[in-house]
Amino acid sequence: MEDRTPNRADLDPIEIASRDEITALQLERMKWSLAHAYENVSHYRASFDAAGVHPGDLKLLSDLARFPFTVKQDLRANYPFGMFAVPREKVVRVHASSGTTGKPTVVGYTAKDIDTWATVMARSMRASGTRPGDVVHISYGYGLFTGGLGAHYGAEKLGCTVVPVSGGMTPRQVTLIEDFGATTIMVTPSYALSILDEYRAQGLDPRKSPLKVGIFGAEPWTNAMRLEIEQAFDMHAVDIYGLSEVMGPGVANECVETKDGLHIWEDHFYPEVIDPITGDVLPDGALGELVLTSLTKEAFPIIRYRTRDLTRLMPGTARSMRRMEKVTGRSDDMIILRGVNVFPTQIEEQLMLTSGLAPHFQIELSRDARMDVMTVHVEAQAGQMGQEALQAASEALKARIKERVGVTVEIAAHGLGGVPRSQGKAVRILDKRPKG
Ligand code: DLL
Repeated sequence: MEDRTPNRADLDPIEIASRDEITALQLERMKWSLAHAYENVSHYRASFDAAGVHPGDLKLLSDLARFPFTVKQDLRANYPFGMFAVPREKVVRVHASSGTTGKPTVVGYTAKDIDTWATVMARSMRASGTRPGDVVHISYGYGLFTGGLGAHYGAEKLGCTVVPVSGGMTPRQVTLIEDFGATTIMVTPSYALSILDEYRAQGLDPRKSPLKVGIFGAEPWTNAMRLEIEQAFDMHAVDIYGLSEVMGPGVANECVETKDGLHIWEDHFYPEVIDPITGDVLPDGALGELVLTSLTKEAFPIIRYRTRDLTRLMPGTARSMRRMEKVTGRSDDMIILRGVNVFPTQIEEQLMLTSGLAPHFQIELSRDARMDVMTVHVEAQAGQMGQEALQAASEALKARIKERVGVTVEIAAHGLGGVPRSQGKAVRILDKRPKG
């Protein structure tokens, strides 16, 4: 793989500033953000008042713990524009997350917010090894989802040639990467695997593709998956994190030179990790739920937003800003199978270690009498194996999951294309258990 480490001289100075400089900036900005939310959003005024706190009570960053959390339900209750802190006329863009149930959650941006977002996205892409002049192929969905347009504005700001493809029409994705000479691809890791399959289906060698850097996020993926993608394409595979409620992609990003977790762009987003049951703030290093507070957003300030994403905070390495560990999963995606907690990423890890099986998978939950049953749908690697070998690979996976994850699962092995593909975020869990 080509060395893609960025020059230190090209970084934003704050990325490598001293911790004292970073915390001083954070404190000043946090005071502004709390006051801005309190003065302009009735929800925050009411929730701070109910908790008996006032923005003026914040003297230290740790005082943030005295302020109430914000949850997705608060956004729904204020649908569509009730959480905006500026007049609607100042909002130049909205995005929304569909949500599987109920009303979507709507977020808004002023012109300055869009510029801030482009800045942190450009920074994320530079950290990933993308350079001005690169051809950037964007397969994240365009539209209300923040992935496509978030990546787009960042890539333009960095000075790249943007190819705004969006998801879908997989054969054409391959043609455009090859014909336009894409050097960076931005896509969900699960859809990257579909593009990889398409390379092989067209008889092309993915290692000969022009791609040098892949920036993958919007869903959990493992280091085992990283290795698979890096080897298949001979390119760097770097993790990007974000969520619409806080901004979109570009809240945190790995550095290509270390790939050791995602640096949170702490000059714009303040992280805490809490115990999801008690709500207590945990010390850095402890695993818990990530809570984020925006420090500079105008249209949609967000205070102590409970992301439901599980991770831990770690000190900076390639940058001064703290890192978050690769997200294990969302607390909503945790399966409790006969008393054992299981995340889809744990299944992914074991699948990647099992030869003969493709990296695509889906987990089906059903109920047999009164017992929950977990069936992992997998498929044979392209162009390989008869029934017997597939059976053996399935047995090996089952044994591995039993030994390493501690649960007994059923494996349903399919032929090529047997596991449904996503063009955006993969649907990892199909819950067919009777409700209630
Ligand atoms: O997925 C924003 C995004 C777009 C991030 C493109 C990265 C790339 P939402 O649709 O609001 O926004 O979904 C946010 O997706 O709370 C996580 O559960 C999950 N997620 C996002 N990035 C990662 C990641 C976009 N790198 C939700 N690893 C978040 C694991 C991720 N989960």
